Amino acid sequence: MRIVCENLSYTYNEGSPFAAKALDGVTLTIEEGEFFGVIGHTGSGKSTFVQHLNGLLRLPTSLKKYKPKKRKKSENEAPMSVLRVGEFDLTSKNTDFRALRKRVGMVFQYPEYQLFAETVEKDVAFGLENFAEKGQKPTEEEVKRAVSDALATVGLDYNEVASKSPFDLSGGQKRRVAIAGVIVTKPEVLILDEPAAGLDPLGKQELMELLHKIHGDWCKTVVIVSHDMDEIAENCTRAAVFSEGKIAMCASPKELFSHAEELLSLGLDIPLTAKLVLALKERGIEIDCDYTVEDFVQKVLARKGGRA
Ligand SMILES: Nc1ncnc2c1ncn2[C@@H]1O[C@H](COP(=O)(O)OP(=O)(O)OP(=O)(O)O)[C@@H](O)[C@H]1O
Ligand SMILES: [Mg+2]
Repeated sequence: MRIVCENLSYTYNEGSPFAAKALDGVTLTIEEGEFFGVIGHTGSGKSTFVQHLNGLLRLPTSLKKYKPKKRKKSENEAPMSVLRVGEFDLTSKNTDFRALRKRVGMVFQYPEYQLFAETVEKDVAFGLENFAEKGQKPTEEEVKRAVSDALATVGLDYNEVASKSPFDLSGGQKRRVAIAGVIVTKPEVLILDEPAAGLDPLGKQELMELLHKIHGDWCKTVVIVSHDMDEIAENCTRAAVFSEGKIAMCASPKELFSHAEELLSLGLDIPLTAKLVLALKERGIEIDCDYTVEDFVQKVLARKGGRA
């Protein structure tokens, strides 16, 4: 499913003294098949943006389509907003949001805080039963198979954890269970808000491997919000940089991190490889890499070999 977003704006508490403009004319297309990154400093609108993609936030402001009125069109007239995910038009009141959410899964930041059921099995099964069509409740057998598959995908053994309370698991395991509860419906688009936040380096690596496995398997498009530029450089096809509710840049990691100074001026970090490229450049050595560690090392070695 292709995600098309044009002129998307959103204000929290609109019309009140606490109004906060979180998105301001965002235009962005995410192609089916991408592993897309959403970056930007805190408060730049990342979470607000991704929560639109499965209709969790629907907009009194941005979803108003422009309707010609009697008065003359003025320059200040809000432009028409477009928000489409595959065949779903999220600006339409008639959209079947339940059907949409079955196909567009959302993992919130620190999803383990949303575990609630008395057993892991019940927690993971919840999404499955919740999204089942009326009159098509899955059988006990089907639920067990789907839960077991989802747990195996996140690296957990059904027999070991299914009957445990999610609250008796370790932090990393809880996060996996929470992710299993979203992927149990095998969404075509999976959106994760800071999925690796708070995990140790090994946990982060395992999580990214898991996401790539899903991506190559049945999940066509992955969208991750991240603060970690190394994670973006290593994993993403493209990334959008949010700044004050707008898109400051949207490009491949190679293109993005070649504008290191611009990113630094937006208060963002750059990957370690980009820092090394800059440090070498200051010493007169140009390395043209895509900012993954592997490509950086290959290009450095090739250069060294060339000189030897
Ligand atoms: N529920 C809310 N009510 C009012 N304002 C909000 C709410 N949620 C977010 N905001 C405001 O909207 C803006 C964008 O917030 P958002 O959470 O989308 O940013 P973010 O890029 O996800 O930040 P972070 O990196 O801290 O998660 C900020 O100014 C924030 O204060
Ligand atoms: Mg956020």
